[in-house]
Amino acid sequence: MSTVSVFRLVYIDFYSKNAVSMVDYYTNTMGYRISEEVDGITYLSNALDHHNIVITPSDKTGIRRYGYQLDGNLSLEEVQEKLHVQGINSTIKDDAKPGISRLIELQDPAGNTIELFTKMQQTTVGFGSSGIVPHKLGHVAFYANNFNETIQFYKDALGFAFTDKIGEGFANFLTCNNDHHVLNIIASDETRLHHIAFQLKDASHQYASSDLLSKQGYPILWGPSRHTAGHNIATYHHDPEKNVVELYTDMDQYIPELGIFEPRPWHEELPMKPKVWEALSAWGTEFEMDLAKI
Ligand SMILES: [Fe+2]
Repeated sequence: MSTVSVFRLVYIDFYSKNAVSMVDYYTNTMGYRISEEVDGITYLSNALDHHNIVITPSDKTGIRRYGYQLDGNLSLEEVQEKLHVQGINSTIKDDAKPGISRLIELQDPAGNTIELFTKMQQTTVGFGSSGIVPHKLGHVAFYANNFNETIQFYKDALGFAFTDKIGEGFANFLTCNNDHHVLNIIASDETRLHHIAFQLKDASHQYASSDLLSKQGYPILWGPSRHTAGHNIATYHHDPEKNVVELYTDMDQYIPELGIFEPRPWHEELPMKPKVWEALSAWGTEFEMDLAKI
């Protein structure tokens, strides 16, 4: 029988103290479009999914939920049973939220609330016509309490594959598709967001995004530089509520059947296999902001 398997990160739901500024940032700066506003909560779409970013007004900031799509080989009841056998409690919700009629809600060992679903409604809003307009929400990095248990959970319970580490006990990279990482889990004694990341189309898009961000008052805090793990060219900035946002291109593509990454000219060795890295920048560049300590 099939195993539980997610294949993409679909949305991130933010708690927001100043929802007006967050919605302004996601529409006018990032180029997302609003697909729906319900009960004060704003649902924003990259192009096709009902939502990829959710802004939920609150008295705090940070992450409210992460949403992952299941491959659909198992019913939600079967997924729930598989999780239950592994000692993981979950709740199936009907008429759960706009865009998703049924989902499973559970907590990972770090304490993050995650939602799993097989179907999301599509929207007709399309890509934005101004602002950055990324290709997609690509990955999330979070500090995790119960670091080892959390990594194990994503591998064993949700079907993620390990792709790289930085340091032995610092950061683990995991994927549920061909992108080098969909998750970056960082050891800590508290669980909180490290950054979220959006894929751009190419290097010229990266330059244009930095021009637009600086013009709109969002300076680049780290980068551009090529990472070691993933080899993505990345820049980082703060959104209006100081969540760190990465924009990247050129991420390594994983071939699970071979356990290697597609060959690229900048790779340090061939074939390129998952390994332990020491530095963050493949170019050796040091920036004022230390990404290892944000
Ligand atoms: Fe990242």
